[in-house]
Amino acid sequence: MPQHIAMIMDGNGRWAKKRHLPRVAGHARGVKRVRDVVEFCMARDIRYLTLFAFSTENWKRPVDEVNHLMGLFVSALEGEVSKLHRNGICLRVIGDLHPFNPRLQTLIASAEARTAGNDRLTLTIAANYGGQWDIKQAFGKWLKAQHAAGNPVAEAGSPEDIDLIPYLAMAYAPDPDMVIRTGGEQRISNFLLWQSAYAELYFTDTLWPAFDAAEMEQALAWYAQRERRFGQTSQQIKALAR
Ligand code: IPE
Ligand code: IPE
Ligand code: MG
Repeated sequence: MPQHIAMIMDGNGRWAKKRHLPRVAGHARGVKRVRDVVEFCMARDIRYLTLFAFSTENWKRPVDEVNHLMGLFVSALEGEVSKLHRNGICLRVIGDLHPFNPRLQTLIASAEARTAGNDRLTLTIAANYGGQWDIKQAFGKWLKAQHAAGNPVAEAGSPEDIDLIPYLAMAYAPDPDMVIRTGGEQRISNFLLWQSAYAELYFTDTLWPAFDAAEMEQALAWYAQRERRFGQTSQQIKALAR
């Protein structure tokens, strides 16, 4: 079983278009799937679930759609946080939150504070997140720490002197074992670039609003067939398992 599943929830717009509905109807249906997938992970004792909700590139969308997505985020936080808390879920939000409106920022901060002591499942929402942003912000924090410690940063030219891992946005979680992308595209779209280095990548044509428990089951069955070698040989892995 994977300890950490990360998901690129793609295909909301196409799901709606097929039904002659506005794109935003697809996003609303997508929120329901988030509930299902959280319940699924709880039932399977998966400890970390990370969901890509809004990328740093998604600001390029029509302003009405962006506003609608922000509204959905606000209403999901207002409506669901008590339930998450009751279920022992710790909610975290990763990404550059500064561009969000102050009300949304306050809701995020209070939801995180309220659920911080929970550890049954850590649910991370990636919002205004980009893997490139994450690496850059981690490097900035690392530099500041070197400066504060009086280390001569200018001379630190070798890669082994640079340790970004403690400063990455998800430093509190193990790297994802599996990244699932719905919606048919086989790309990462600037999700967890660093952290996905050894993730098993699962792509399905199923659109996010249609991704149900049976689909999740299929993804886990596929994962169970993978041999994770982390650069070693199959023989070495089998010897370790003995
Ligand atoms: C994913 O669905 C949701 C977000 C990126 C916010 P899309 O909105 O990208 O749906 P498609 O890819 O256009 O179908
Ligand atoms: C990736 O989906 C981002 C999220 C699911 C939040 P996109 O729909 O934005 O990805 P591209 O543009 O097709 O690569
Ligand atoms: Mg898309």
